Amino acid sequence: MDIDWSTLGFHYTETDYIVRASFHGHWINGELVGEWSAPYATRNKMIPVHAAATGLQYGQQVFEGLKVFRGVDGKVRVFRWKDNALRMQASAVGLKMAPVPVELFEQAMRLVIAKNKRFIPPYETGATLYLRPILFGSMHRIAVGPGHDFEFVIVASPIGPYYPGKFHCTSFIVNRRVDRSALFGTGAFKAGGNYGSSFRATEVAHLAGYDCLFLDSKFHRYIDECSAANFIGIKGNEYLTPRSTAILPSITNKSLMMLAKKEGLKVTRRKIRLEELADMQEAAACGTACVISPIDKVYDPDHEITYNFGAEPGPILTKLYHDLQDIQYGRVRDTHHWCTII
Ligand code: PLP
Ligand code: COI
Repeated sequence: MDIDWSTLGFHYTETDYIVRASFHGHWINGELVGEWSAPYATRNKMIPVHAAATGLQYGQQVFEGLKVFRGVDGKVRVFRWKDNALRMQASAVGLKMAPVPVELFEQAMRLVIAKNKRFIPPYETGATLYLRPILFGSMHRIAVGPGHDFEFVIVASPIGPYYPGKFHCTSFIVNRRVDRSALFGTGAFKAGGNYGSSFRATEVAHLAGYDCLFLDSKFHRYIDECSAANFIGIKGNEYLTPRSTAILPSITNKSLMMLAKKEGLKVTRRKIRLEELADMQEAAACGTACVISPIDKVYDPDHEITYNFGAEPGPILTKLYHDLQDIQYGRVRDTHHWCTII
């Protein structure tokens, strides 16, 4: 196998197997009743899908993303997979799809890791094996409404850091013309449609040399999300992160909040006005892919204001980044029981 682990980016690399399972059911009095097949591994990455499937037509599709780490001790760890399984269930219910049972998620996850174990990158290369569980509606249906058959797939791929340069600063630009999600829309679910609908904004941002900062869709006043990641700000001794009905409940953010408390920081989740950036000493995007990506500046083109945080990552977010990575790579005791050793 000829993979240069240390130069891998956040891109798909062909692996040996995917794992699949199918659900067949019926809607009875508003309740979806049916059965899941056992998960199975296959080398065939192509999935024949009916042209009128609800996943293709009506956006019945949700996904997840989690990482498998090779630790300092050579052991293989999966970080908080159960949280991903539960979030995928919430997303499925949100889009009127069959939730994948936690036991099935676990079996499929263990199988896909076992079948692709030669793709788990060595320790200290900065790369991990990324798992992408996907759930979509496979039943043909022309009438507008949810289907009753679904396909669950886990794709695995070794990946490098989301932002090149490991712990590297990112700049964000505000966009008030494209919303990622409506206030009571699907923003809290990991639905593929949320990503497709934000491509217009991310493209504009990328062309200008930034990533996109999304504000709340009603007032365009409060910070929602940093591209496909949660926002964190440090104001004095306080860890601030937005409370919003439109953002994805990030497992990384949830973990960082606990680590921040342990470091003696006050952790606050509340609505955060964009102008409050001026009072923060540090800011970052956080998520599975980037872990923490410090923000060097946020540009608001409508008011021609730039909020600067400096070109170097700040000390508090740097500490939290290392605290989390130390747990993920088995360098410290996992007192929270976040890692499952495979
Ligand atoms: N927000 C969005 C829109 C995301 O896609 C992700 C990634 O999954 C996150 C936040 C971060 O969530 P997590 O830390 O669970 O990966
Ligand atoms: C993350 O895992 O942090 C993400 O932002 C997910 C994205 C790559 C789809």
